[in-house]
Amino acid sequence: MHVDPYEKFWMFAAAGLIVLFASSVVYGAFSYAGHPPSHVETIDPSTARTDPRFAELGVVEKPDGSVEVVVLAQMFSFMPGEIRVPAGRPVTFRVTSPDVIHGFQIVASNGNATIVPGYVSQFTTTFAKPGEYLIVCNEYCGLGHHLMSGRLIVEEGA
Ligand code: CUA
Repeated sequence: MHVDPYEKFWMFAAAGLIVLFASSVVYGAFSYAGHPPSHVETIDPSTARTDPRFAELGVVEKPDGSVEVVVLAQMFSFMPGEIRVPAGRPVTFRVTSPDVIHGFQIVASNGNATIVPGYVSQFTTTFAKPGEYLIVCNEYCGLGHHLMSGRLIVEEGA
């Protein structure tokens, strides 16, 4: 069978691109601990503000040394707006929304979740070094969307 050299070139180029893209996904998954969300927990958005799981917002240290952060994402702020966690320890974020879809992205880290009303978004990550991170809402949620941000301060682990 005769295959034109140009056609042959593009067949290999296309196959090479597929391999490149697929390996970048695998590389990201292992090197940056990137993975799709796997936590499914529902909540009634109309009572999310008074739900016992979100009664106390902020940082809670667990007896096993891990840290849990409970956050309410709402038009147009995160509560609490400033979060302080220790470095070098697993931090589990639990976020929900009482109104519309928001985003919860910890810029320059692998922490990023979509906050859908009716669900509790949960992910765990570890911040290796102390520093300051910006948290932004990356889902358009209304006129104040661009104002919706928070601060995460990673402190020297105790
Ligand atoms: Cu919340 Cu955009």
